[in-house]
Amino acid sequence: MTQDDTSTPRTPDDEQSLASRGQNRSQRPTSSTFVDFVTSGWGERAATGTERSAAADHTAARRSRLSAQFPGERLVVPAGTFRVRSNDTDHRFRPHSAFAHLTGLGMEQEPDAVLVLHPVEDGTGDDGSAHHAVLYMRPLAGRDTVEFFSDSRYGEFWVGARPTLEDLETLTGISTAHLDGLRDAIAKDAGEDGVQVRVVPGVDESVEAVVEEIRQTEAAGERDEKLAEALSELRLLKDAWEVEQLRLAVDTTIDGFEKVVRALPDALVHRRGERVIEGTFLGHARLEGNDVGYETIAAAGEHATTLHWTDNDGLVTSGQLVLVDAGVEVDSLYTADVTRTLPVDGTFTEVQRRIYQAVLDAADAAFAVAVPGSRFSDVHAAAMQVIADRLAQWGLLPVTAEESLQPDNQHHRRWMVHGTSHHLGLDVHDCAQARKELYLDAIIEPGMVFTIEPGLYFKSDDLLVPEEFRGIGVRIEDDVLVTADGNVNLSGALPRDPDAVEAWMAGLLGR
Ligand code: GLY
Ligand code: MN
Ligand code: MN
Repeated sequence: MTQDDTSTPRTPDDEQSLASRGQNRSQRPTSSTFVDFVTSGWGERAATGTERSAAADHTAARRSRLSAQFPGERLVVPAGTFRVRSNDTDHRFRPHSAFAHLTGLGMEQEPDAVLVLHPVEDGTGDDGSAHHAVLYMRPLAGRDTVEFFSDSRYGEFWVGARPTLEDLETLTGISTAHLDGLRDAIAKDAGEDGVQVRVVPGVDESVEAVVEEIRQTEAAGERDEKLAEALSELRLLKDAWEVEQLRLAVDTTIDGFEKVVRALPDALVHRRGERVIEGTFLGHARLEGNDVGYETIAAAGEHATTLHWTDNDGLVTSGQLVLVDAGVEVDSLYTADVTRTLPVDGTFTEVQRRIYQAVLDAADAAFAVAVPGSRFSDVHAAAMQVIADRLAQWGLLPVTAEESLQPDNQHHRRWMVHGTSHHLGLDVHDCAQARKELYLDAIIEPGMVFTIEPGLYFKSDDLLVPEEFRGIGVRIEDDVLVTADGNVNLSGALPRDPDAVEAWMAGLLGR
């Protein structure tokens, strides 16, 4: 019965299923004549010219460090799959960072792929490790398949050609195999008395379900978490290639901030000036072929006191400061994370400058101890010493600065509730699953990259601060590379000192 047929009463069974109703807008022919026609008559595929990626020279060493921690076990590291944005439309795919780190793949590579480290006799695996890596993937489908023209999520007609097994093997230097073989590959010799399997949790439900079915035990959660922890800790020290990627990300982020300054006159006359700033930065990232590593914060005036203000739907008004927290994520998925708080007219008022200078002094104090041999937590402590001292000088603390700094007090944190630093890399908050002893309590080492980002935030209804402070939020955030003898401020080319900020803005605005 067609839906137009009213001659016979409908029963619930005749109703079209909800799942298939998305097809109702489709005018796609399904006749065998059409299918034969659309799947034939295509020329030879041109060679893709895929070459080995520069990252491939570094990923084997990363896998080998992981291998040493899990001898004899099978490790399953999924890239993840598509996530629905609305109805049948997906978000842009971004591989999970652990997968990107171990394969060197970035951008939108490669939905549904799964890296498996198979245990082998010690010394016989990749680069002499105890594991052999295989990348299971969904390779390019032939033009003689229905998928080719008909599948809007995977089909070549719809989303472009995927790489072949050979392409991905060339690119990554890792053996590849068809995704269809994944289940059997994970199951091989696995079980109670056989090979133990761990999977990175929370990345790909269908892969996790396969692993759980093979393990037949629900008690493996802790072991999976240990794998996630190890993968996070593996990224605490950046190799030379990662540092180069972070430098690229920061350099193009600095260019984006210049464009933001040039867009301020437009922001000032727009009904949603914050959106002009956000759009300018995002446009810059996309025009340069990249993306942003997190949603840009464009927070004018009072909005700057909301730490992660990403609504960006407010006015930008003369006399305000605007806090811009933005970072470009480059092809390899490494991201910058930089904040500047700018006077929208190009010059700070005296009160704005006073608050700004306190934050800058806190940042400088943090930089001074962000060196090998310090503890990671010392960086925050140095910044907090300055913040507490300055708040005490201003008469805002009900106790002395030293009393406020006592762990049981912390009054000063009312005006800066966030931390001063976090590791930075593939994730903006990188290495987040690392143990405390390797993160907050760790000794700083060359190769670490983290942010220094103190701030002060005075809400407009804060009765404990002078009226002139209310509605002002300031954060200054830089990206720091620890070196053998100190540190390098990767974002240091972006002016931080208030005089330098004013001069830089005047130059960009032609004043
Ligand atoms: N952009 C978020 C942060 O600074 O941590
Ligand atoms: Mn940050
Ligand atoms: Mn930030």
